[in-house]
Amino acid sequence: MKKYNIAIVGATGAVGQEMIRMLELRNFPVNNIFYLASARSAGRKLKFRDNEIEVKDLSKFTGIKSKYSIDLALFSAGASISKEYAPKFTAEGVFVIDNSSAWRMDPEIPLVVPEVNSDVLSPRKLLISNPNCSTIQMVVVLGVIHKISRIKRIIVSTYQSVSGAGARAMEQLRYETGEILKQIEKKEVIFNCEQKDYKLSDNKTLKNPAIFYQIGFNLIPQIDIFLENLYTKEEMKMVNETRKILNDNSIMISATCVRVPVFRSHSESVWIETEQKLSIEKVKELLNKTEGIKVIDDIQSSDIFNRYPTPVDCAFQQITYVGRIRQDLSIENGIVMWIVSDNLLKGAALNAVQIAEKLIEKKYL
Ligand code: A2P
Repeated sequence: MKKYNIAIVGATGAVGQEMIRMLELRNFPVNNIFYLASARSAGRKLKFRDNEIEVKDLSKFTGIKSKYSIDLALFSAGASISKEYAPKFTAEGVFVIDNSSAWRMDPEIPLVVPEVNSDVLSPRKLLISNPNCSTIQMVVVLGVIHKISRIKRIIVSTYQSVSGAGARAMEQLRYETGEILKQIEKKEVIFNCEQKDYKLSDNKTLKNPAIFYQIGFNLIPQIDIFLENLYTKEEMKMVNETRKILNDNSIMISATCVRVPVFRSHSESVWIETEQKLSIEKVKELLNKTEGIKVIDDIQSSDIFNRYPTPVDCAFQQITYVGRIRQDLSIENGIVMWIVSDNLLKGAALNAVQIAEKLIEKKYL
């Protein structure tokens, strides 16, 4: 079996680390692997299987093909880095799977959830976009339903974990939770903490909070910036990316995205209206037999872990979970459900690695 030379751009980040773990866990055929990040991380050593790999400074990295014969690059270092560096890799014939929002809505760039639309992959389209985390887990489930009865309308509210905002945001939640617990112990019941520079566990200082408001013991109904239509960029990503992946611009979608004090896994309350009426039993049966999806929906169960999925149960799992499937009470063809998945895995690193596996399966890579 052919083995590939792979570059991970953003290898030190929350998603980059999971990309590495997914390549290991899924036995991806890796020959050599290269870890790239900012100058700050250059020289750090990180593991791949039993080997120590030295992190290189992306801005000084040359010889993509000539020296290192890279076949595939997985990018997760933010949109501006992707915009600047991804074209340098594709110009040398390297497949790039980009986790940022830089190219997702470009009509020439495939935006892929392999279970739903791997048919848009092509040997000539070297740059491939990995969708937004909240979109992926919703579309994996709704793609199955859309195939048997067109979805006309979606109303979704998300409950998104802090890891979606990166490693610094996880550190912020840890810090704020600790501070507030100390206040509670001292019976100073104020339940909030000042937004300031945080001391990190390694004694470095985190300048400026990663999430603008206190996230410990709080909820924030804003992810990314506000747009002119009063929705946030994250909410409009869900609208536009869902339409692109399901290849149906007529689906009406409205999203509200909320950051919650959870470390891993995004949860979503999803309401859909379908063209034909579908029974709950049919939806459950269909979802249950789809690879990568598991229905946990037994509110009568005496085992609380089998009643419905929660973010804690779903963290570190390579699966999208669905529960609370029920008929909507307000319209004829409405269904409501609860979808949970690990945002760093199916929502990011796993989906990227699955795209790479598809490229191999289709013999494009
Ligand atoms: P570094 O650790 O050197 O800053 P997260 O999403 O968890 O915040 O991770 C972001 C990732 O993007 C990290 O690996 C980070 O590397 C990387 N990154 C940030 N800025 C740059 C840059 N200018 N060049 C290369 N990589 C970068």
